[in-house]
Amino acid sequence: MKKNKQYPLTPMATTDFKSVQLQSSSSCGCNSGCCDTSGDTAGEQTGNSSKANEMHITIDGKKIVVSDSSKNIVEIAKEARIGIPAPCFLNKHKYGCCNACVIEVNNEQLYACVTKPTDGMDIIFNRDDLKALRKERLLKYRENKENGIFQKCGCP
Ligand code: FES
Repeated sequence: MKKNKQYPLTPMATTDFKSVQLQSSSSCGCNSGCCDTSGDTAGEQTGNSSKANEMHITIDGKKIVVSDSSKNIVEIAKEARIGIPAPCFLNKHKYGCCNACVIEVNNEQLYACVTKPTDGMDIIFNRDDLKALRKERLLKYRENKENGIFQKCGCP
């Protein structure tokens, strides 16, 4: 299996996020609509290419058949009704980089917005340490956005 390039995860200032509650496990609370899966069609299959091009991945154990390898993990997860917070990707980096779409594949932390699927990929998304990291980064992203601070992106 081809190994994905790992992008450096920029450590951000520690934020006290005890008082901030996420709305649900699949909503980040940033109000940008980044992880809104309402209106999506349910299903585990994406795209409509032939079976020869299909790949099988899992996200937190949920099996997903991927037909379009050009999509990134954020897009594939959304089609499978899994909301990975990705505000900077959805805003086309207009407000800088969020680093919040962190996932883990083979013990490596990756950004879902720049990670393409590979057959057999086993993705961890909804784990406590990743959720805490994601929450911290979303708060920092929102704080930067409110203060007009543009965090440069390490994503390609
Ligand atoms: S969505 Fe912001 S870094 Fe991936």
